[in-house]
Amino acid sequence: MTQEFIFVNDRLVPVGEARVSVNDRGLLYGDGFFETMRAAAGRVLFLKEHLARLQASCQQFRIRWPSEFPWDTYLQNLLGRNGLKASVAVVKILVTRGTVAGLGLPAGDKPTIIIYARPYDPPPAVEYQQGWPVVIFPEPRASFLGRHKSLNYLFCLAARQYALDQKAREALILEPDGNISEGAATGLIFTEAGNYFTPEAASALPSITVAMLGRALRRRGHSLLAVPTSAARLTQSQGVWLANSLMGLLPVATLDRCNLPLSDLTEFLNQCLWSEAG
Ligand SMILES: Cc1ncc(COP(=O)(O)O)c(C=O)c1O
Repeated sequence: MTQEFIFVNDRLVPVGEARVSVNDRGLLYGDGFFETMRAAAGRVLFLKEHLARLQASCQQFRIRWPSEFPWDTYLQNLLGRNGLKASVAVVKILVTRGTVAGLGLPAGDKPTIIIYARPYDPPPAVEYQQGWPVVIFPEPRASFLGRHKSLNYLFCLAARQYALDQKAREALILEPDGNISEGAATGLIFTEAGNYFTPEAASALPSITVAMLGRALRRRGHSLLAVPTSAARLTQSQGVWLANSLMGLLPVATLDRCNLPLSDLTEFLNQCLWSEAG
């Protein structure tokens, strides 16, 4: 990628020339939502599902949804302009409430839309074989915002940093009742006696990766059920994986320094997931 381009509203501009107002509520309050997606060979994977989640969050928080926005055309233009049509890329869409003044959730008539597309290097194969060390973030979270991919991402960033400070790669977030919610930037699945599960958690983001994997597993006669999940249940399971749209399914090697069994199902799970993208 020689010079990176970015969409800001309906303008495709070099990233160094991209401008948003200092009064944008995304900056002032984290008043907006985002989606991070994987693109492969010029296709944004699960785009429909990501846009549906973004739209649902915007509507719930009264951000005017840009129903006429030509997502497909703009994404194709951007991937093409950044030379990403033949490789794996990360695509990020942000929608903020724009610059309307006032506390509360004022309607506003012009949301700000930003679209990035950059090269993406998935974790190396050895990490998919050996897994990541993961720790539990000790501060529980009780927030309905957790169910949305909000620009208010500070809790997740602090949890991830807690993990990095301990040479771990991801932190698990706790629900107020002490059960596991999700990862700082990942959903979670685990297997017990040949069945697949994901935490049932009131404050967790509904992961598109977990939902799509569930659909793929059901097609193959398996199930993926949401169940209340304690840390002890994870350590007694036959395998735990982190899940997100960029990296797919990556196994957990240790949880708070306790070894977890490394199952040989990682490749199967990723094949199921990516085949679901068509
Ligand atoms: C907090 C959080 N939970 C879960 C996920 C996984 O979501 P998805 O599978 O939709 O990428 C993410 C993705 O970045 C996330 O930020």
